Amino acid sequence: MGDSRETFGQKAFVTGFPIKHSRSPLIHGYWLKTLGLPGSYRAHEVAPEAFADFIRSLKDGSSGFAGGNVTIPHKELAFRLADKPDELSHELGASNTLWLDDGILHATNTDGRGFIANLDERHPGWDRHETAVVFGAGGASRAIIQAVRDRGFREIHIVNRTVERARELADRFGPKVYAHPAAALAEVMKGAGLFINTTSLGMDGEPAPQLDFTPLSADAVVTDIVYVPLKTPILAQAEEQGFSIVDGLGMLLHQAVPGFEKWFGRRPVVDAALRALIIADMKAH
Ligand code: ATR
Repeated sequence: MGDSRETFGQKAFVTGFPIKHSRSPLIHGYWLKTLGLPGSYRAHEVAPEAFADFIRSLKDGSSGFAGGNVTIPHKELAFRLADKPDELSHELGASNTLWLDDGILHATNTDGRGFIANLDERHPGWDRHETAVVFGAGGASRAIIQAVRDRGFREIHIVNRTVERARELADRFGPKVYAHPAAALAEVMKGAGLFINTTSLGMDGEPAPQLDFTPLSADAVVTDIVYVPLKTPILAQAEEQGFSIVDGLGMLLHQAVPGFEKWFGRRPVVDAALRALIIADMKAH
């Protein structure tokens, strides 16, 4: 709660390598404008070999930034170089949000909160079940496994083509998390109330396997963290088979909320106009 949060005109960034396709400047720019705040938020590309220097300039104040977002490939290093990563970051070994407070560089990871807030907004009651299936065990699955566990699911089944990667995550996230090879998918789906695609299958017009969702509980929710296209082949199949679906765009929008609040001092709202703005941008590119 340093004075900096109250000061108008804060500067924030999103950094990655590459970063030019990031939609974060559009999201934060929308909030700055609609809230009438004079701050700025911009994409700032930093090559991997320059990242440690960038963090140094952040900490000593010479960069002029109040904080920012970090994406691929810098999330692990951001966690390691921050002065005060929170518990969520420690367990994930990665951070996506940084902010300075009295000269101390704090770090958290907001992907899991974004995932949960999206489901809360678009399908209240999604969490009434005890069993979830997470399809995929890449970097993007971690924050989701953590968030679903912390929300209170009793059994989380990770299914992955490379079962060793699923096992690593089961070890990391504790006794409620189980690892399975792809062949076990139908079996572990039996009676589950939540199915989350975290693989890249179906992204950007790529093909996706034909999946049979019918073993899930009849009122299960199927969601996908891929949001290009908005209705991924996996979501389309689930919908055709009669299941409720939630697309992944809201995760991107909601994960941005905590950072904005830290840097600019106001809690922004994910509204229909913001969603429409991003959808229009997706169609234009
Ligand atoms: P990210 O960090 O974005 O999650 P990633 O670490 O490359 O990306 O993980 C991609 C996920 O999609 C993994 O679970 C990957 O399975 P493997 O761990 O076996 O590689 C999954 N995936 C990608 N292409 C796939 C395919 N053709 N069939 C099955 N799973 C696939």
